[in-house]
Amino acid sequence: MVPDINHRKMNQQKHIAIVGATGAVGIEMLNCLAERKFPVSKLTLLASARSAGQTRNFCGEEITIKELTHDSFEGIDIALFSAGGGISLEYAPSAAKAGCIVIDNSSAFRMDPEVPLIVPEINPEAAKSATKNIIANPNCSTIIALMALFPLHQKFGLKSVIASTYQAVSGSGAAGITELEQQNRLLVEGKEITADDMNVYPVQIASNVIPHVDVFLENGYTKEEQKMLFESQKILQLPELKVTCTCVRVPVYRSHSVSITAQFERPVDVAIAKASFANQTGIQLKDDPDNNLYPTPLDTTCKNDCLVGRIRKDQVLDKALTFWVVGDQVKKGAALNAVQIAEIL
Ligand code: A2P
Repeated sequence: MVPDINHRKMNQQKHIAIVGATGAVGIEMLNCLAERKFPVSKLTLLASARSAGQTRNFCGEEITIKELTHDSFEGIDIALFSAGGGISLEYAPSAAKAGCIVIDNSSAFRMDPEVPLIVPEINPEAAKSATKNIIANPNCSTIIALMALFPLHQKFGLKSVIASTYQAVSGSGAAGITELEQQNRLLVEGKEITADDMNVYPVQIASNVIPHVDVFLENGYTKEEQKMLFESQKILQLPELKVTCTCVRVPVYRSHSVSITAQFERPVDVAIAKASFANQTGIQLKDDPDNNLYPTPLDTTCKNDCLVGRIRKDQVLDKALTFWVVGDQVKKGAALNAVQIAEIL
């Protein structure tokens, strides 16, 4: 039987594991644990057999990476998973069975009704219902969008969302970064980009934008676009919330941006909307267009907070606001959010 998270007694200091420790998010998880001085008694780094034996530095200590197996989780309190959905589906149940709490960055368990889906600034109390010992970290664009939408929802009551994302290549992991670097290099050298240079994206990403993130579904949306709908409904506990989204990959290395038009139950006011961000941790206002001050991906890269700007009353829909929100998707959209969840346990 899986031990109950609510009644488990945990020491102050915790034995933490990172599954996917060599990946873009895994590396950032290591940084976040150190930056936030998380009380780590021991750190276990897990990856594939390819990386076993390599070392990574954590707070001055060299830690040897081990190969992930079903027996990796004995004695571990919390395992931060970021090695893809397939690995989570296969190994998270073994970790949970060993009494470890899994915080999973993949989409594998997000819509499981027995798995809480948490943004700590929004629904930390959901952690109490982790009856399977698994907690899911939401999709990166969804986290960033909700960081801005949540304070507005509290003021005006959220009804519907129309969004377009501008997603950085690091959202595709280390391979996405390498692909953009390689294609940029070829362009600078005046060389042709061929099919051999396109392993992650179906078309060229350098000097281009691609309206395709994740797989296409029967209804014409992509899976990534539907995550924004279903995950927002679950996190905000708004089953009637309507969301339409177009997810776009852009040749930016880090930080996702989201353009949002949100419609509310009650009349909106731009000054009140702006003031609502002052009381919300994790989001800051950068909104002075007269002085060319608005959030860009470079502003949030390697930062914890999301930035919101370009806030205006929408001129098409009633009781609606249009705005722009940007956040580092490797940090707040993944690693930091996972570590924050570990902090509230
Ligand atoms: P490895 O580097 O050993 O392949 P990213 O999303 O940045 O591509 O990172 C994926 C992460 O998932 C890496 O740390 C990678 O480790 C890890 N990973 C991939 N396949 C496996 C596997 N079969 N077992 C354990 N970890 C894996």
